[in-house]
Amino acid sequence: MVGLEGRAVTITALGTALPDREVTNDELSRSLDTTDEWIRQRTGIGARRVAAPGVSASDLGILAARQAVDRARLPPEDIGLVITASISPDQLFPPTASRIAYEIGAVRAGACDLSAGCSGFVYALALASGMVGAGIHEHVVIVGAEVISSILDWRDRSTAVLFGDGAGAAVVAPATEGGGRILGFDLGSDGAGGPLLSVPAGGSRMPATHDTVDARQHYLKMNGREVYRFATRIIGDSATRVLEQCGRRIDEIDLFVPHQANMRIIEHAAGRLGIPRERVCTNLERYGNTSCASVPLCLDEASASGRLHEGDLVLLMGFGAGLTWGACLMEWGAAGPL
Ligand code: ACO
Repeated sequence: MVGLEGRAVTITALGTALPDREVTNDELSRSLDTTDEWIRQRTGIGARRVAAPGVSASDLGILAARQAVDRARLPPEDIGLVITASISPDQLFPPTASRIAYEIGAVRAGACDLSAGCSGFVYALALASGMVGAGIHEHVVIVGAEVISSILDWRDRSTAVLFGDGAGAAVVAPATEGGGRILGFDLGSDGAGGPLLSVPAGGSRMPATHDTVDARQHYLKMNGREVYRFATRIIGDSATRVLEQCGRRIDEIDLFVPHQANMRIIEHAAGRLGIPRERVCTNLERYGNTSCASVPLCLDEASASGRLHEGDLVLLMGFGAGLTWGACLMEWGAAGPL
């Protein structure tokens, strides 16, 4: 994909939501054969948030979307479309986005879900940018919302320690003078790697039966080593492509916001690209891998802490199940997303 055509587009506001309950590595090590030391050394994760029983992805998504819409001072009836990206949606259908749109009062909005693994937020941003850029909608709300704790096999130490719950949302709208703009995307997919990271059962390919439940096939399964290999390669490749397409250089990047899967992946990729550590945004020490919520959670923290300034070049990067990947290059606005 090349740099955007049509009218310029930006993110006008961000919103986030996290469950209150923090689960530390030490707490996990009481029920799993693991240690704080192993988890920190191999992943960089120290704790994660876990939603209370009965809380679904839309519940967190509603809170994040409402905050983004309030911060944008956007009347909810002016929202044209709500897109939700998730690997742990409320149900196979109806779309999680429909409930979010309903609950935030987006009475005139279309709503749909997007499945692109942990790249989902960057994909949603690309679709929203295309819609707004082409003039189909004025305001699109995108939401990355996850309750991954509901699809984790809490007996499997190789996956249970990695993920956390949370949600992040953004309002995508036409760019205004000094309001920043989205410069371009690089999106990709390699379906040969599908089996490396999936929830095998519960869809049409392996419908739910007693056997699938007994065999624990409704939980997230991952070949961590292969996904690791893929991630360290693709981040550099995709970042290089989007920079080339937009005519920018790696040393111009002020903030790199990668999907928060593993600190070693992030450090390896940033090192390979030559992005200094102080320009890399991370939060996985506190939240673990929040999949589609990780990029907006990081971006919102960076914005709130005053780390971003007018004209800053920001590189967002998602990668995950599919296998999929997505990079977005954007210029930060004067006020930045609120
Ligand atoms: N505690 C203690 N030991 C563990 C744990 C644990 N929590 N988990 C695994 N181990 C053991 C393994 O059993 C293995 O033991 P063995 O040597 O006796 O067989 C040993 O640790 C090493 O296991 P590896 O899998 O080789 O460990 P590795 O260093 O590769 O780290 C990890 C595993 C953290 C999963 C890493 O491979 C990784 O981060 N991969 C990428 C995952 C990722 O990015 N996923 C998200 C993608 S986004 C999405 O779309 C969802």
